[in-house]
Amino acid sequence: MPPHFLKPGDVPPGYAPPGYDEIMLTRGGGASVRHVQTSMPWWNPRYWRKRVWFGVVAAILIVIAIIIGVAVSVTKKNAYPNYSTLSYSLVDTYSGEGFFDQFNYFTGYDPTHGFVHYVPQTQAESLNLTYASKNSAVLRVDTSVGPGDSPDASTGRFSVRVESKNTYDNGLFVFDIKHTPYGCGTWPALWLTDRSNWPDNGEIDVMEATNNATDGNQMTLHTTDQCSMNVRRKETGNALKKDCNHEKNSNAGCGVEADDDSYGTSFNSDGGGVMAMEWRDAGIRMWQWARSSIPSDIKNKTPDPSTWGTALADFPSTNCDIGSHFKNNSIVVNIDLCGDLVYALWDDSGCASNCTDWVANNPEAFTNAYWEFGAFHVYRSS
Ligand SMILES: *[C@@H]1O[C@H](CO)[C@@H](O)[C@H](O)[C@H]1NC(C)=O
Ligand SMILES: *[C@@H]1O[C@H](CO)[C@@H](O)[C@H](O)[C@H]1NC(C)=O
Ligand SMILES: *[C@@H]1O[C@H](CO)[C@@H](O)[C@H](O)[C@H]1NC(C)=O
Ligand SMILES: *[C@@H]1O[C@H](CO)[C@@H](O)[C@H](O)[C@H]1NC(C)=O
Ligand SMILES: *[C@@H]1O[C@H](CO)[C@@H](O)[C@H](O)[C@H]1NC(C)=O
Repeated sequence: MPPHFLKPGDVPPGYAPPGYDEIMLTRGGGASVRHVQTSMPWWNPRYWRKRVWFGVVAAILIVIAIIIGVAVSVTKKNAYPNYSTLSYSLVDTYSGEGFFDQFNYFTGYDPTHGFVHYVPQTQAESLNLTYASKNSAVLRVDTSVGPGDSPDASTGRFSVRVESKNTYDNGLFVFDIKHTPYGCGTWPALWLTDRSNWPDNGEIDVMEATNNATDGNQMTLHTTDQCSMNVRRKETGNALKKDCNHEKNSNAGCGVEADDDSYGTSFNSDGGGVMAMEWRDAGIRMWQWARSSIPSDIKNKTPDPSTWGTALADFPSTNCDIGSHFKNNSIVVNIDLCGDLVYALWDDSGCASNCTDWVANNPEAFTNAYWEFGAFHVYRSS
């Protein structure tokens, strides 16, 4: 760019206009000021001021942060545990006439406020509320005591809650179920927990329903905080609440609901079926089969979950440290009557009267309130 010489009327020395630099020329003892037009295109970083530099660097950092954030959230959303094939061997069998010998009978007040008296083993046997033969084990609600009897059921009906003597920290549990209990006022469950360390050691509900169980089976985890299923899952069931923390959603837990025929009359009509629950550090998964479609590896007692296809319920470890949330659990089978969950659902259940009145006065309404099991097999990975 050629020098631009000041002409009369131009801006005086010290006031170079925008786009001009002031240079001092000394020649032969005299000095003159010239304003030299500079080339300062906005896109040329050589001419950026500090403030501009700062803005540009900040903008680049923001863009990088956004790219990383998006990448992390995409990765997180796709994160899924490695359910690699484990090799399982049989460790415990609950079956035959000794089925109930492997359980303790819980006889305290129902922790969930049911209208129920959980009876000890001797009374359960004399009332025939637990009964085991070569091929099946039955656990039922008393149907003999009505309003005219002494004692009557005006303070709660006789029922049973058993908890396995063996406790588990993981494993593959295969439950053969021939009949699921149902009926107005009932709250049956087949589950795992450590009653003396609840909720710290977790709760795994494999089968659970209320009243006539028309909505099918519900599978649920209950934990302390920092266990959530707001992550990628591979399951055919219908996810309910995602937070497993018992302090959230009135202890609803993180549940998965199966089809209507997964529990109650239609499940029972085909002779029931099998529920399998795999509990390992990678996650907890459950499957269900009707009697007619039980996989051969289960029948052969060489179960391999990797051959069973998509689970019915999937609780991956992605956002829940399974190993620390679930420990020392017993297998629990019970049939509660009324209780917190049933009270909450009663008005929408279509069942008559109120729950306690119904349970106290209608012994004949509990003829379908029984579990019948084939056997339970527990496998451990080697
Ligand atoms: C999953 O784990 C198995 C066994 O540890 C390993 O062989 C396999 O490569 C892993 N798969 C992935 C996708 O990480
Ligand atoms: C006890 O219950 C079982 C199973 O339902 C039944 O087969 C058996 O006859 C009952 N025993 C008595 C003494 O009622
Ligand atoms: C395991 O569970 C049983 C039954 O709830 C309990 O008595 C026992 O104290 C527990 N053990 C540990 C180590 O938590
Ligand atoms: C529940 O089931 C019993 C027995 O199948 C039936 O008699 C009763 O009407 C049902 N009640 C409701 C509310 O569906
Ligand atoms: C339940 O119903 C019975 C009979 O209608 C009634 O006497 C009783 O007060 C009711 N109980 C509650 C808790 O509503």
